[in-house]
Amino acid sequence: MINKERFEELFNQRLIKDISEEQIDIVLSGQYGKALELLRDAEATSLFPALVGPPGVGKTILCRYFASLRAQENKKKTFNWLTMDESIKPSHFIGSFDPAITLKKGFVLEAFNPGPLLNAMLEGGTFLANEINRATEYSQNTLLEPLEEASISIPHLGRIKADNEFFFICAMNPEELSGTHRLSEALKDRIKIWIKLTYPDKSTELDIIRINLPEHFIIEESELELIYSIIKETRHNKIDIDVPASIRAGIAIAKMLGRKRLLEKEKKAEEKESVYVYLSEIVKHVLLGSIKPKPGVKVENIIENIIHKTLGG
Ligand SMILES: Nc1ncnc2c1ncn2[C@@H]1O[C@H](COP(=O)(O)OP(=O)(O)O)[C@@H](O)[C@H]1O
Ligand SMILES: [Mg+2]
Repeated sequence: MINKERFEELFNQRLIKDISEEQIDIVLSGQYGKALELLRDAEATSLFPALVGPPGVGKTILCRYFASLRAQENKKKTFNWLTMDESIKPSHFIGSFDPAITLKKGFVLEAFNPGPLLNAMLEGGTFLANEINRATEYSQNTLLEPLEEASISIPHLGRIKADNEFFFICAMNPEELSGTHRLSEALKDRIKIWIKLTYPDKSTELDIIRINLPEHFIIEESELELIYSIIKETRHNKIDIDVPASIRAGIAIAKMLGRKRLLEKEKKAEEKESVYVYLSEIVKHVLLGSIKPKPGVKVENIIENIIHKTLGG
């Protein structure tokens, strides 16, 4: 275990003080530019937006980028977010009393640790409620007052008014995906701009893979095309596949291939493995956990078929 001093030193070194300082490599072509524009419109009109799309289509990165733009334009504005599931309680948004201090001093301000929503409301930052439809209705209801009245009631302490710049975004997977609750009607009614994100068009997705590759990893265009065709295949086969490969899977395959290529840089052309050999190996390891088959379908069989179809062999 690291000692306390070392912990503090490392922590302070790595602390991200301001989202505006964070470098976010984002591709803004295709749907992303339009979605960003809609977020800006929503902000300008004080209408709260939702980003809706399957996992890994870029909802979080878009929010972070949007928040960083706001922070740059409007110094000192923060970005807070919370990813929800059934176990999220209102205190996770708002904050809670420290038991030790409360025991000594009672329910006083000093004993209160603010949560991410309260922080965003106080500072006028951006708050992202990620996977909001996974939260129970009880927890979703915590958001009604902030969205409707721009205020929030804190038990024992009182009600605070949000800074004028406070902005709320939520993100969710489409509701038909299993394992998610529905968005409560009351909350739905307060979210006014619905932005759908889906798997990007080919050139955008290839740009995203490129931007996410370490600089020294060189992958040829024809190889990128192959990777895309593999990923795309998982999105076509709706009979066997419940959740197809996301952008993350393509990035992972490209990184693994990039590394293989780097390792054999010194080799003569005839000693180099063919991309088909490399990819069929890499694809097995990446897709195994990147696609969710329909019940009763074996993921290994799906992968075999995809490899056969796109890489031959
Ligand atoms: N427009 C984009 N530009 C750059 N990278 C992107 C873009 N969209 C998605 N990505 C990358 O794809 C991955 C998934 O994005 P993320 O925002 O986490 O998706 P989601 O929140 O929808 O699950 C991340 O590694 C992210 O860096
Ligand atoms: Mg996300």
